[in-house]
Amino acid sequence: MAKEKFFITTPIYYPSDKLHIGHTYCTVATDSIARYKRLRGYDVLFLTGTDEHGQKIEEKAREAGVTPKQFVDQIVEGPGGILDLWKLMNISNDRFIRTTDDYHVVAIQRIFRKMYDNGDIYKGKYSGMYCTPCESFWTESQLVNGKCPDCGRDVKYAEEEAYFFRLSKYAKPVRDLLETGTFLEPASRVNEMIKNFIEPGLEDLCVSRTSFSWGIPVDFDPGHVVYVWIDALANYITALGYENDRYHDYADYWPGVNIVGKEIVRFHSIIWPAMLMSLGEPVPKKVFGHGWLLIDGGKMSKSKGNVADPYLLAERYGVDALRFFLLRTFPFGSDGNFSNELLISCINADLANDLGNLVSRTTAMVQKYFGGRLPAEQEADDAMDAELVSMVSALHARYGGEMDRFAPQNALAEVFKVLSRANKYIDENTPWILVRDEAKKPRLARVLYNLLETIRICAGLLTPFMPDTAAEIERRIHVEPATWESLGQFGLLPADAAVTPGEALFPRIDMDKELEALEALSAAQKEKAAQPAKTGVPPVLPEVSIDDFAKCDFRVCRILACEKVANSDKLLRFTLDDGSGAERQILSGMAPYYPEPQALVGKKVVAILNLPARKMAGLESNGMLLSAERDGKVYLTILDDAVPAGAQIS
Ligand code: ME8
Repeated sequence: MAKEKFFITTPIYYPSDKLHIGHTYCTVATDSIARYKRLRGYDVLFLTGTDEHGQKIEEKAREAGVTPKQFVDQIVEGPGGILDLWKLMNISNDRFIRTTDDYHVVAIQRIFRKMYDNGDIYKGKYSGMYCTPCESFWTESQLVNGKCPDCGRDVKYAEEEAYFFRLSKYAKPVRDLLETGTFLEPASRVNEMIKNFIEPGLEDLCVSRTSFSWGIPVDFDPGHVVYVWIDALANYITALGYENDRYHDYADYWPGVNIVGKEIVRFHSIIWPAMLMSLGEPVPKKVFGHGWLLIDGGKMSKSKGNVADPYLLAERYGVDALRFFLLRTFPFGSDGNFSNELLISCINADLANDLGNLVSRTTAMVQKYFGGRLPAEQEADDAMDAELVSMVSALHARYGGEMDRFAPQNALAEVFKVLSRANKYIDENTPWILVRDEAKKPRLARVLYNLLETIRICAGLLTPFMPDTAAEIERRIHVEPATWESLGQFGLLPADAAVTPGEALFPRIDMDKELEALEALSAAQKEKAAQPAKTGVPPVLPEVSIDDFAKCDFRVCRILACEKVANSDKLLRFTLDDGSGAERQILSGMAPYYPEPQALVGKKVVAILNLPARKMAGLESNGMLLSAERDGKVYLTILDDAVPAGAQIS
């Protein structure tokens, strides 16, 4: 019989910076659910990826003096980038979508046109309050104390010609969908959506921009780019082949489950289903809005300098310990406060004590008392055994129920109740006393057998959370990787079960010393981060046509003046002679590399002149200077003095 399909996704993250423990939390949780579903026998497709367009990334790239594509390539594919992070964290995604992938670009253009053709997208004019960092327009009533309701920053009045999506038309069906009670979870988020967004009235949504160019062009109206939310949300279906030829399993896997952070629940539970309704496609099976990891009660933010680094933590404590901690400690639907103390005490209490000790003690006793293999002659279970056995036997169903409710923390709590009961069972049965009496050996063998069975079942159920640790435990107790059915049956190990003891799975950590060491490490890391990054030689970019190249107007310019921009660490303001007779102003992120900008005056440099004008730090920039980068250092392309200003480069 064909396996039932299950499609699950994380948000596609912005590659505007390195990802932090918050992103890792969501991806690890989704990974554990995907692994659980595979264990249950589903044919799972797990998707994650990156959301690469938009003004923020365009600006960051400009500041860094690279193209937006080079900028995101480095963050996604470069050393220590997003792909590396997911590999390190043992993420089992089947696909990774980048919104700059060709197939996605084509599909978005088709989707946009489809919605335009059916009358759900129309051209109009937008005026409103705009938050640049969030790339969101807000109505006056949505502002909180006059500031952006998402990030709390200042908004400014803005106006532009734009395309709109008739979101208002879908208010009723979206409300009905929310009220089913199964579409959006946790339930508390449903009321939030209805009260804050549906009841005040859904307004049509601005879905194109002319104010920046780093996006997917609206193919029937050059100058407009598709606003990121249509581009971003549709990734969940373009990655399955919707409106493109790269993949062909949309009909098999859609609709799926979208796991997202609470701040983007609005986009996923209102705009996303409305978009799908407009396209005549099924809405997601479920949107689950998880909570935030906070530090000191506040949201993690690079600017606040309170971001926990998943690389550092995984390297220090092991990937499995970090994965486990994240899901064991924080209820998935609510916010939680991250701290290093919590992490260390979780490792000590659950992993070193409860799990690690149980495995070490049990395997060591089988080795010591029976040479590594239990005798088949064992006594029948007594009442104390029956209690443990019934608890272990019930675990499978309880755990499954919690996982099906997207409550990994409860599933883990069930496993750890059993593990701590098993540790108590050792103390109650005192194997070290039983061993002294030859006649009690069959009883001793039974006790150890029950412990090995408990370990087998718990290790199997821990596989989605700690794949490597579970495999190591299975190796030590000589069992094959678990199947779901085998975890529901107590007594599957042969009576003469054998073991291979090993090192402590999770050594205990000295809290005080460790906190001190972490402090020192984090200070060293911050210092290192302040140095320019080492990048190596990037691979050659994909081919472009000679016609595309010929469209770029590269000119030789003479630097007439060059100075630092007052309110920016990175920008230099160049006044240039481009050969036309008029002066041209270009801003470039060269300040860190040219501490004495006036020394550049008189040099001949290369600029591309026909990029759209841009405002940076309040000043207009008309073009971009070409530069060369290697190992974190950036150099202007400076030509021989003999080349005249205005000469065209081809
Ligand atoms: O919003 N705690 O991308 P993003 C828990 N590109 N989870 C956190 C977190 C924290 N402190 N910080 C981030 C975007 N996350 C869009 C999404 S989807 C079509 C487009 C997680 O890079 C959480 O899942 O800002 C959140 O929703 C996501 O990262 C936001 O990532």
